[in-house]
Amino acid sequence: MKRKVTKAIFPVAGLGTRFLPATKSIPKEIMTLVDRPLIQYAIDEARAAGIEEFIFVTSRGKSALEDYFDAAPVIHAELEAKGKKDLLEILAKTTMDSGQIAYVRQQKAMGLGHAVWCARRLLQDDEAFAVLLPDDVIAAEKPCLQQMVEAYEETGGNIVATMEVPMDKVSSYGVLDVAEDMGSFVKAKGMVEKPKKEDAPSNLAVIGRYILQPEIMDTLNQKKIGAGGEIQLTDAIAQEIVNSDNVYGLRFRGQRFDCGSKSGFLQATVAFGLARPDLAAEFSDFLNDVVAMRQAAE
Ligand code: G1P
Repeated sequence: MKRKVTKAIFPVAGLGTRFLPATKSIPKEIMTLVDRPLIQYAIDEARAAGIEEFIFVTSRGKSALEDYFDAAPVIHAELEAKGKKDLLEILAKTTMDSGQIAYVRQQKAMGLGHAVWCARRLLQDDEAFAVLLPDDVIAAEKPCLQQMVEAYEETGGNIVATMEVPMDKVSSYGVLDVAEDMGSFVKAKGMVEKPKKEDAPSNLAVIGRYILQPEIMDTLNQKKIGAGGEIQLTDAIAQEIVNSDNVYGLRFRGQRFDCGSKSGFLQATVAFGLARPDLAAEFSDFLNDVVAMRQAAE
């Protein structure tokens, strides 16, 4: 039996400049989709997949994230006094036991690979771990990381979430070079970070969910500079293909929203709003009206 994956790294050190001016005073990960901050979606997904320890790689100006996962005694007392059980339940999901959550600072923006490496001392030498990029929000019947954990039971090794993207979008992603296509998952023979369209080995893009072997940290330790002058996680995973030939891509079932972009964030807001039983009817009436008005104006 493979050892369970119980630790996850959440790289959240980015400045979020694409969301300025909002991110001047709040971390991007605290921005809300309906009524939950972005980070809560990633945490809920990780919990559903069996993750018990959460490691945040942060930077200066991200203290709102630490407060968010802390106990909130004043709000708590107020809700208790008023008997608001439903809200207390919602709040309970946001509080972590002390020791369940850890924060490490990435002192310099040196890339995703470097951010992951910053968490190395909080992992054991023989322990596989998950990485979740909270910008990628995935709506799925079975949470994406859980699908990956189940696939991992079969394959072992390293697994990345993957999906087909249009060829003219490949330069925004890590891209898989496929050795063998088994349908729901593929075996990789290479992986390239943000290739030009003409150099891309496929249109299978890596989405921000990973289950990785500890050896990745040894490779990241070499601090090799890759695409964009940064230390890339993609390059360390590609090295694992060379060293151990054990990298797989899982075509997850679900819809992914790129909440690192304004348009993706808006799309996610609409999709998650429509999926909420308490909002769906009123919100979809509104959207229908908006569309009808636009069409009438054209
Ligand atoms: C990162 C990774 C890239 C991956 C992408 C998924 O890029 O470096 O390999 O495809 O996340 O969202 P970023 O979007 O941070 O530039």
